[in-house]
Amino acid sequence: MFSGKTENIAIIGCGGFIGSHLLEKLLTTTDYRIFGLDLTDLKIRHLLKYKALNFLHMDFTDLPKVKDVISRCDTVISLAAICNPSLYNRKPVDVINIDFTKSVDIIKLCSDLKCKLIQFSTCEVYGKTLTGLSKCNEAIEKVESYLLSEDNTNLIMGPICAQRWSYAAAKQLLERMIYAYGFEYDLDYTIIRPFNFIGPRMDFIPGVDGEGIPRVLACFMESLLFKKPLKLVDGGTNRRCFTYIDDAIDAIILILKNVIDTRQQIFNIGNPHNEITIKELALLMINLHHQLIPESNAVSIGTENVSSQDFYGTGYEDSDRRLPDISKIGKILGWKPKTDLETALRLIIKSYIKEYTGRF
Ligand code: UGA
Repeated sequence: MFSGKTENIAIIGCGGFIGSHLLEKLLTTTDYRIFGLDLTDLKIRHLLKYKALNFLHMDFTDLPKVKDVISRCDTVISLAAICNPSLYNRKPVDVINIDFTKSVDIIKLCSDLKCKLIQFSTCEVYGKTLTGLSKCNEAIEKVESYLLSEDNTNLIMGPICAQRWSYAAAKQLLERMIYAYGFEYDLDYTIIRPFNFIGPRMDFIPGVDGEGIPRVLACFMESLLFKKPLKLVDGGTNRRCFTYIDDAIDAIILILKNVIDTRQQIFNIGNPHNEITIKELALLMINLHHQLIPESNAVSIGTENVSSQDFYGTGYEDSDRRLPDISKIGKILGWKPKTDLETALRLIIKSYIKEYTGRF
């Protein structure tokens, strides 16, 4: 099952949130030789000293260079994407171009060069999910009815003017293209659908090391660090299942190593036990921050409601509920997540405080 030999792998987008954690684990616990591609090394400077890493400061759309790298590799892990909801309505052309058009070139190269492709997709491909539909179908009551499964669940998007779905649609078409290359050209691939991975180094803190609106965890951390009310979009009633990054990395490495069992498969990676509404998440983070630094008096910060129109602009719609079915990855690879939400948030809040204030 395990390939055993030292392999060359390319990680496209190794400098991002997931890439930086994956790189760290691979460099410290395996003997893969890694070509890491990214436009930035900000999150991986502590890893550049490793001999097994050949970091290439480059754009993944530079095809001649990417071709040269892929021709030397057994596996490509493709992480590069625009995956920030605030850009889905504001920069939809870039989102579709990077997340679909330019990513198709990587599929073609892997197919031509007979290289395994591990492609990161998204839980957003499930779109609006069954909870929305269940409002018109009282019969759907059992929790199993809400589980999103890789090979059975329908993918439900909003209308074209709701540009929120530009990302989900781009990723869905990318998955379909990969599947088609598998069908017609025998491409060896695995598709991963991450469910809200969270951890240290996630996104950026606006005004400090990035501009714009990051994903919810970093938004809430910014509020806690600068003592501003945590913003609840449309009341914060939607739910997410947050997955601690270390658990996610364990799953990714199992996929990387189990070449035969993961061939031409799609896997959810998520933690259904960590489901929470965004409002509950805000209150939990406030309380945990308060416990960690009582003198910050974080409980006095509070929350404020904001409309999605004001926060994200026209065209925003939301997934109401995303509950992953993880039985497939459990059965094939024996993976299940270990970290509960409170433990994960404690670790993350501490690491942000350390990173941005020097405390701890
Ligand atoms: C994300 C992104 O689309 C992708 O990065 C990714 O594929 C996937 O989901 C994931 O992280 O696995 P979403 O979960 O909507 O989408 O991203 P967040 O920005 O983290 O928002 C989560 C929820 O919090 C949404 O309901 C949003 O409206 C809300 N939110 C966000 C707030 O209430 N307040 C904020 O300050 C920010």
